[in-house]
Amino acid sequence: MADNRIALVTGANRGLGRSTALALAARGVHVVVTHRGDADGAEETARQVQSAGGAAAVLRLDIGDVSSFTAFVAELSGLLERRGDVSRLDIVVNNAGVGVFGPLEAVTLDDFDTVFDTNVRGTFFLIQSLLPILAQGASIINVSSSLSRHTSPATSVYSASKAAVEALSRTLAAELGLRGIRVNSIAPGPTATDFNGGAMRDDAEMRQSLAQQTALGRVGEPEEIGDAIATLASEDLRWVTAQRLEVSGGAFL
Ligand SMILES: NC(=O)c1ccc[n+]([C@@H]2O[C@H](COP(=O)([O-])OP(=O)(O)OC[C@H]3O[C@@H](n4cnc5c(N)ncnc54)[C@H](OP(=O)(O)O)[C@@H]3O)[C@@H](O)[C@H]2O)c1
Repeated sequence: MADNRIALVTGANRGLGRSTALALAARGVHVVVTHRGDADGAEETARQVQSAGGAAAVLRLDIGDVSSFTAFVAELSGLLERRGDVSRLDIVVNNAGVGVFGPLEAVTLDDFDTVFDTNVRGTFFLIQSLLPILAQGASIINVSSSLSRHTSPATSVYSASKAAVEALSRTLAAELGLRGIRVNSIAPGPTATDFNGGAMRDDAEMRQSLAQQTALGRVGEPEEIGDAIATLASEDLRWVTAQRLEVSGGAFL
């Protein structure tokens, strides 16, 4: 299905960013794959998009380096113009994120700052920087976590950062609605990626424990999050904004 909309996916060199890029491409969306240094991973994502018949380009973007955003947007605009498109972006998926987990007494200032600088500050200022090139009717999707709803010890800073992502998503939906721009958050439950040391993919005991606490009886697969994000970005859900969509198989109900 040709669509010709253009999406930017942060942290698309692996994990949920890659599965999102592939799901968007499967719906005919052209994808700008960004990475903060893993060029090989990003090229592999682009290769998979292209071998499935889609279009992808790769750019470097460290979401923690807000001072680089102006130059990044200029580079992105140049890329879009060279491709013959008007300089406009239809979909932004703020996927890049980090989790630092530990009990209250173990969390350092550096841990705290890394999590908030990446998940909240980077997300917020990237949206601000992209404003001039966002299309009328664009869709912004910020990746949160089911942990903003349920509670596990040793996740306080990460959970708080994702709660902040959801709060800013709702407020920006109100601010940007007059431009027809939708802003939503997606809250994945435990999903089998490299995240948290790959525990949800590789640690059989943890997978079993999570499965027992999930209505659908297992942890999620990256493709299930990518498909949900691509669906939320689609025209079928054009009347949905300021929402949090949890994609967790019913974790910790
Ligand atoms: N997997 C889960 O269970 C789960 C559940 C809920 C929410 N999430 C959220 O889903 C998103 C993707 O997670 P994932 O499961 O795909 O984890 P992942 O495999 O660890 O991937 C994280 C991605 O974020 C990128 N990233 C981190 N810091 C960055 C920075 N400063 N600049 C640019 N990119 C940066 C990583 O880049 P590098 O490769 O360079 O490190 C990587 O591409 C995150 O926001 C995470 O919080 C995941």
